[in-house]
Amino acid sequence: MASPESRRNFRRSIATRIALAAVLVAFASPLAAETSGEASFALCAQCHGGVGQGNALFGAPPIAGMAEWYVSKQLHKFQDGVRGAHVDDAEGLRMRPMSKFLKNDEQVADVSAYVAGLPAVSQAATLTGGDPARGKDLYAPCTACHGADGKGDQKTNGAPLAGLTDWYIYRSLEKFKAGIRGSDPRDTDGAVMRGMVMILQDDQAMKDVVAHIQTFSN
Ligand code: HEC
Ligand code: HEC
Repeated sequence: MASPESRRNFRRSIATRIALAAVLVAFASPLAAETSGEASFALCAQCHGGVGQGNALFGAPPIAGMAEWYVSKQLHKFQDGVRGAHVDDAEGLRMRPMSKFLKNDEQVADVSAYVAGLPAVSQAATLTGGDPARGKDLYAPCTACHGADGKGDQKTNGAPLAGLTDWYIYRSLEKFKAGIRGSDPRDTDGAVMRGMVMILQDDQAMKDVVAHIQTFSN
């Protein structure tokens, strides 16, 4: 029998499939080789929002103002199937074909620069029950790679966390825990993060750390 979670995912997948069909019709032909970052962003905006603010319906995180190195790194990971190829990764499987509309490294670089240049959008909390004070203690080991302010660190490949929505952070932690993200043998950064997420022992610990991350300004 299907679990409540799989039924919920199924209903959600119907709603998103209808919306995504519209995206694919709009972008049925590949981007031209000389497409600028701004022009490529018209595709991204279909799911990540007109100003890159993100969209919970699609599970698409905010990307406006995200560090350029991180955006381009993740786009290459999606293109290579290092991320977003796991059978249970509904959101990653949505993003992966989109990354392939970018036809060369230059297009990846240009759209990454464009996204990084967009002003960050402040995000309202959606999760309840997290204790930011307890989350602050839990976050102490995370600072080594993500920084005390959650700005991320290219030296450790620690993703920028400030500016992400709480639902996306929570879901990402769940995915690392379950090996839905970070388990491809080529994903050395994901493997590091998979080890770290194990210190968050239960849902409450994940909610607490997310509540603390939500206090960062972007
Ligand atoms: C069909 C919807 C869709 C389109 C179009 C789309 N994305 Fe995504 N994108 C997603 C989803 C869903 C995720 C979340 C994947 C996950 O949870 O791992 C994502 C994730 C990402 C991430 C990773 C963010 C992070 O915090 O790790 C980046 C970067 C990104 N997208 C950039 C882009 C860019 C640039 C474009 C345009 C070239 C684009 N996306 C087009 C749906 C889309
Ligand atoms: C040793 C370094 C390291 C530590 C410590 C670490 N992380 Fe990470 N984290 C990473 C790396 C590297 C990535 C990028 C993974 C990738 O490229 O997919 C990441 C990714 C993430 C993401 C996904 C961000 C996104 O935009 O998709 C979240 C959320 C996250 N970490 C939270 C945490 C939390 C919370 C802690 C502490 C419990 C923590 N990390 C500790 C290295 C670390």
